[in-house]
Parts: sequence; structure tokens; C-alpha cells
Amino acid sequence: MGDLSGWQVLVTAGGTREPIDPVRYIGNRSSGKMGWRIAEVAAARGADVLIVSTVQSPTDSDQAIELIEVETAAEMAEAVWANVAAADVLVMAAAVADFRPRQVSETKLRRAAGPPVLELEPAVDVLAGVAEMEVDTFVVAFAAETGDVELAVDKATAKKVDLTVANDVSSPGSGFATETNEVSLIYPDRRVQAWPMLSKREVAERLWDEIAKMRAPQA
Ligand code: CTP
Repeated sequence: MGDLSGWQVLVTAGGTREPIDPVRYIGNRSSGKMGWRIAEVAAARGADVLIVSTVQSPTDSDQAIELIEVETAAEMAEAVWANVAAADVLVMAAAVADFRPRQVSETKLRRAAGPPVLELEPAVDVLAGVAEMEVDTFVVAFAAETGDVELAVDKATAKKVDLTVANDVSSPGSGFATETNEVSLIYPDRRVQAWPMLSKREVAERLWDEIAKMRAPQA
């Protein structure tokens, strides 16, 4: 079920890192596992897959997946924007920074200088940029919540994406660095479909079944 032969698929994975100085960064707990599973399942079903990721595959997979390795939100944005128009589907599974240090020190900040006060500025919003491009690509967003998945419904509707995968990253067995995930799909009409706790592989399989149902490949 869900053959994806002929599909061009673009996936993002991992957490971005926003530098403070040459040795330090602001990051997040994303392991990249969910994004890589989504990429692997798409490739196993015959899609041509490009992944823009901050991490290499956490598993030994024999799937042919092209990787653009990035570090920051700005680098991820550049790679996604350059490739999204050619993609039938974009799955934004990466945990992209919302803020970054306004100033990056070129040399290591010294302990003796005392703790710095970091001023943050907004990081680039990758999905907002994709929305402005008005491409035909089917866009799947992720929404990381801590406690209130209902909040994700408002976010999902505002982002004008085709499908949102919401998960509570604070609940046990769900979210960052786990092997399993408990997610809800949010449709553009605000309909919510909750899935049980599944392995990330099974979430990826079901997600592609759903995407294949919702969207046929571009001619
Ligand atoms: N995202 C993005 N660019 C960013 C931050 C997030 O494209 N700078 C994408 C993520 O990859 C994800 C979706 O937006 O697919 C939602 O991310 P999330 O952090 O849950 O939502 P935000 O809109 O950042 O809202 P908030 O952090 O306030 O919950």
C-alpha cells in the first residue's frame, strides 16, 4: 500500500544549533529519529528522497537518501527553499530554533570575563518562507507541544499547511529521543485524529499512507 514511485520527497530532521561562540550553541532535544524514519519509509516505498538534517541517520538503513547536512535555522531555510519547488511533498519534522543569539562571538567566551547576557533575536521561519513561495508542494508540519495539544490546532490552522502532526514532547514515550511517539493529525478544517502510541517507524508508515491518500503526485 502507498507506493510512492515517482514522488520527490523533501524531509527535514533534527534540532538546529544556533551558535553563541565557536564552541557553544543554543540547541534543543530533537534526535532526528522521527524525520529519518519518515525519509526511510518514503525511500522504501520508491520515492526519491532528499533530507535536510542536522544529524546523520541514527540507524543503519540501506535506503538511498540524499543528505544536506546543516546546523542553523538559516542554513536549513536556504536548503529547503532551494529544493521545495521540485518536491511533491515537504515534511518539516525538524525542530527549528525560534530564537538565536543576536551576536555571535568569533572567539571563545572566557569564564574569567563572567557570564554573558545573551540577547536573542527571531530565527528565520522556514515554513513561513515556503508559504510565501506559493509552491504546489504538499506541506506537512510538526507541532511540538508541552501539555496542550489543542494549542497545536490554532497553530496548524494559522500556518496554512496541508497536514500537521502534533505531539506532546513532555509525555513519556512521546517526542524527543524516544523510539515511540504518540501523535495527533490535524487537518486544515481543524479535524483532529489521535493515533495510539506507536513506534516512530509505524508513525512514518501511517503518515505516508495518509499523505498518499490526500495527495496524488504532480504530473
Ligand atoms: N518551524 C519552522 N521554522 C522555525 C520554527 C519552526 O519552519 N523557525 C516549523 C517546524 O519545523 C514545525 C513547525 O514549524 O514543522 C511548528 O514548529 P513549532 O516549534 O511546534 O511551532 P512554532 O510555530 O515555532 O510555535 P511555538 O514555538 O510558539 O509553539
